[in-house]
Amino acid sequence: MNKSILDILDIRKKTTIRDLIEDQSDMLLDFSTPEREQIWNASFSLIQKETGFIYGIVCVLHDVTEQQRIDRERREFVSNVSHELRTPLTSVRSYIEALSEGIDDAQTEAHFFNVAQKETDRMIRMINDLLNLSRMDSGRVKLNLELVNLNELFNYILNRFDMILDGNDEQKPQKNYTIKREFTAKDLWVELDTDRFIQVIDNIMNNAIKYSPDGGVITCRMLESNNQVILSISDQGLGIPRKDLNHVFDRFFRVDKARSRAQGGTGLGLAISKEVIEMHQGKIADSIEGKGSTFYISLPYQDYSQGDEWDEF
Ligand SMILES: Nc1ncnc2c1ncn2[C@@H]1O[C@H](COP(=O)(O)OP(=O)(O)OP(=O)(O)O)[C@@H](O)[C@H]1O
Ligand SMILES: [Mg+2]
Repeated sequence: MNKSILDILDIRKKTTIRDLIEDQSDMLLDFSTPEREQIWNASFSLIQKETGFIYGIVCVLHDVTEQQRIDRERREFVSNVSHELRTPLTSVRSYIEALSEGIDDAQTEAHFFNVAQKETDRMIRMINDLLNLSRMDSGRVKLNLELVNLNELFNYILNRFDMILDGNDEQKPQKNYTIKREFTAKDLWVELDTDRFIQVIDNIMNNAIKYSPDGGVITCRMLESNNQVILSISDQGLGIPRKDLNHVFDRFFRVDKARSRAQGGTGLGLAISKEVIEMHQGKIADSIEGKGSTFYISLPYQDYSQGDEWDEF
């Protein structure tokens, strides 16, 4: 090409041929564009005659984009976990300090105990979520699969949310909501781990309630197409900004950290939901439709009712 290696690699600002000859340590080169991240590792070696005469430099490039991404995610993860634990821990400590100094007012004392307990509960919940994720990451989770009637199961989960509304004052959520069901007429049977599936729907329903105004309608649909069952849950809440759409499934991701934390969220619910659905060979996605957000779950589905073997009966 008749060009200097310094120009081909665009490293004229970083180094000189003389430096390369003296020291051939590896270099990380960032060729990322706004569309595509691309990071290369360049290693150099000299081509030398036996007499020591140098007549060339060989450069070997390795694409390390993926490796860099994993490293970065790991660093972010550790820093996220530390941060998430430090905030409740410091607040618990200050409440305990105040309590140990003695508080005259019984009501304030009870309130402080309550906060300390709530924060501790939240930390335990978060650690449990993390352990759960780590178990799934390392493939140590076995699904307890059984063939279930999805219409019945979905309805059963939603009934529980209806029940909470009628509960006594203490358990009653602060918000009112209405659940609308639009199910298939035909019962759809799917192979599922019931407990884990309930956990997924619980989280999506809790989010729909948490991130919606009082009195909103939550629409739950079910449909069948191309050997798939698709469930969707739509709310009339504040929705998710377009740029954050796929990120809500990332660990610790929250659109508005301050607000979500005030509501007790750690941003792990959807990350767990995604793992669980993918373990079922399914997919989970979110979208904005008009006002509010919609979450979709698709699961593989085999329509046994139209199989040939049944016709013979
Ligand atoms: N229905 C929704 N409407 C608007 N924003 C949502 C909705 N569902 C999720 N989000 C956004 O996605 C983020 C991640 O949700 P996720 O369920 O993973 O965490 P969380 O609810 O904050 O905490 P938790 O771990 O307790 O579930 C939320 O913090 C919120 O910002
Ligand atoms: Mg959640």
